[in-house]
Amino acid sequence: MLIKNPPSWTLPESAATPEDVFLNRRSLLKGLAGTAAAASALSIGGSAFGQENRMELAAVTNDAYTVDNRPMTPEDINIHYNNFYEYGSHKSIANIAERELKPRPWQIEIDGLCNNPMTLDVDELMGMVDLEERVYRHRCVEAWSMVVPWIGFPVSKLVALADPQSDARFLRMETFSDPAMASGIAQQPWYPWPYVEGITMAEATNDLALLVVGAYGKVVANSMGAPIRLHLPWKYGFKSIKSIVKFSFTAERPVGYWEQISMDSNNQEYGFWANVNPEVSHPRWSQANEIILHTRETVPTLLFNGYGEQVADLYAGLEDQPLYR
Ligand code: MTE
Repeated sequence: MLIKNPPSWTLPESAATPEDVFLNRRSLLKGLAGTAAAASALSIGGSAFGQENRMELAAVTNDAYTVDNRPMTPEDINIHYNNFYEYGSHKSIANIAERELKPRPWQIEIDGLCNNPMTLDVDELMGMVDLEERVYRHRCVEAWSMVVPWIGFPVSKLVALADPQSDARFLRMETFSDPAMASGIAQQPWYPWPYVEGITMAEATNDLALLVVGAYGKVVANSMGAPIRLHLPWKYGFKSIKSIVKFSFTAERPVGYWEQISMDSNNQEYGFWANVNPEVSHPRWSQANEIILHTRETVPTLLFNGYGEQVADLYAGLEDQPLYR
């Protein structure tokens, strides 16, 4: 993940989302968020998931999670500036992901050390939880950041549905690895597919940990990890795995995709914990500051990305571990 020159995101006029195209769907979905009716309404047709034409998703705003001191990142920038290696190792993967990724139907498997293993469709899962909107800071290890209005539900809800056994210590998550849905997989065979990430049970059940199914009031765009991704705002973005197909409760600590690449290259660049910390540099660049992506403003990096009050306790007694890589 090399930081590149400022991206060319001069957007064509056609990239602006014509809000009026949602009007006929809006009446259908308003007030139905989190219900089985909303879930089935979401299955209406593939075109509803196009990046310029995504279906609206109603959700209750959670005022406990707002970002006051930074501007919201415009939707078009968020959709068009991405890390999603399944579609290439550059930032402009949006059109490729839009063409290739088919986010419906989408089967999710929940297995491992839990009492309720299950396989279910993403719409079914969305019908089992209440959706909320939360505005989070999003900090990439490459030292850029965004502010994103996500729609989703706490990971703790999925954990409760699965009912983990007492020996479950980690939640392992896996991205799809079907090369027919992502040309970058076959084009980059040297990467350790599938993309995998893992967190401790304490991290998974912290209220900040969010499973994202929408953003900007609509279903989440393909380029941003449709139809379901993680967001852990206190960790570097590579922990926030996209397009998840599998959740497994494990006793062993999972090895993440970037952690595996680091181990293979013996370069110590990416580790398991990956908590945002201005004082621990990446081996190739400082983490002291970050660039707010759409304003190009440089601001100081905050410990735990500013979420220390909610998460610092999770790491008490672990000071000897490389928590911040
Ligand atoms: N998940 C998958 N499956 N593949 C990826 O390449 N990139 C990660 C993370 N999740 C990645 C992924 C990285 S490095 C970051 S910074 C965030 O997704 C980027 O999320 P965004 O494109 O929505 O900003």
